[in-house]
Amino acid sequence: ASGQLWGGRFSGGAAEAMFALSKSTQFDWRLARYDIAGSRAHAGALHRAGLLTDDEHAEMITALDRLEAAVVDGSFGPADTDEDVHGALERGLLEFAGPELGGRLRAGRSRNDQIATLLRMYLRDTLGAVGADVADLIKALHAQATTYLGAAMPGRTHLQHAQPVLLSHHLAAYAWPLLRDLSRLRDLDKRLAISPYGSAALAGTSLGLDPEATARDLGFAGSAANSMDATASRDLAAEAAYVLAQIAVDLSRLSEDVILWATHDFGYAELDDAWSTGSSIMPQKKNPDVAELARGKAGRLIGNLSGLLATFKGLPLAYNRDLQEDKEPLFDSIDQLLVLIPAVTGMVGTLTFDTEAMAAQASQGFSLATDVADWLVRQRVPFREAHEISGACVRYCEQRGMELSDLTAEQLSSIDPRLTPQVRDVLTVQGSIDARNGRGGTATEQVRAQLAEITQQLAKL
Ligand code: ARG
Repeated sequence: ASGQLWGGRFSGGAAEAMFALSKSTQFDWRLARYDIAGSRAHAGALHRAGLLTDDEHAEMITALDRLEAAVVDGSFGPADTDEDVHGALERGLLEFAGPELGGRLRAGRSRNDQIATLLRMYLRDTLGAVGADVADLIKALHAQATTYLGAAMPGRTHLQHAQPVLLSHHLAAYAWPLLRDLSRLRDLDKRLAISPYGSAALAGTSLGLDPEATARDLGFAGSAANSMDATASRDLAAEAAYVLAQIAVDLSRLSEDVILWATHDFGYAELDDAWSTGSSIMPQKKNPDVAELARGKAGRLIGNLSGLLATFKGLPLAYNRDLQEDKEPLFDSIDQLLVLIPAVTGMVGTLTFDTEAMAAQASQGFSLATDVADWLVRQRVPFREAHEISGACVRYCEQRGMELSDLTAEQLSSIDPRLTPQVRDVLTVQGSIDARNGRGGTATEQVRAQLAEITQQLAKL
């Protein structure tokens, strides 16, 4: 028997090019096991509504189990003539249950409520896997931050030296957006946990089925309150694509820093051999390909998100076939991240840092100028004047090719008499870092507390 799901009112088959356009098994077959799970729950609904006898129900479940086993071991798969995953599995069911019993399961459901349900089930599972990978990356950042606790580096704004910070503070700064991504995934799951099954094509069913029971059978928290919304909306697909794109953007920003750090010019970090590549012509090269692919894939995932939004924006209610275009971009975003995140985790976890080179640069570029101004403020000089005085120190040093920490007591007092020799106490990298001891600051004590907080947050997720 064919799995063709329609045709009664048609006198001829579809044109070849029509079928080629319509066909989706090449990408929706990955939803097969969710479709079978949905069929099992739907058989239960038909049984409870008195539309399947006890025996029929038992036989149907047996046939679905056999079909699933055949899908899993690969002995059953989509044929060239199958339009989509639903049609292919219908063909399978007719094979395992016979046309009489198999032909009963389609009552009261439509591919429209099926596909909307399967997509949510699939997203709930795979977003969980993406989340687990993100958690591993956070752990790798945390481990590196712990290993290198105490190492100073130049903190930058506009890529210019700004103020010294701890390397651990910088690494941990990448853990926080990833923790927020995990919380976004968790929050999205609450919305994904509503089942469209029972909405049928758009208006619900007349067969007395109980969508709440079907929802619970499928592990959902509840069923949709509006059958048109349930079958026609794809905001959750867009939301998933956004969170996935955001994860990619977060990886991309981290990667950009790694790329800079690994240059000869910065010289902060070295990539592990296993997580870098060589050049076919330049023997000395060690390239940060993982980081560059992360940057590149971020563009691709942003494209998937904007493509989805563009697909949805002009659609009237309820279901339109345009919605079939939701799957490939979403699957692509998920597939890409599942390959990418473990590689980024490997790269980050095996970076070795040249703490001496970073520390030597930390005080360069007049990065202690704010400390001079803050010291003057503590001596009751208004910040406006303190900023001016510190700026004068920078100009003085710049003209003479020296750093602020090189200034002698005489030079300081010649710039401004309020600059007594004690100001020299704050002109060290360690002093500058540990002075920033308020919550969230870069002082060692605060960073240690922050790392403990990251561990706590991870445990909660
Ligand atoms: N393959 C479709 C999709 O992915 C589901 C089938 C609905 N098709 C239809 N003609 N109503 O959205």
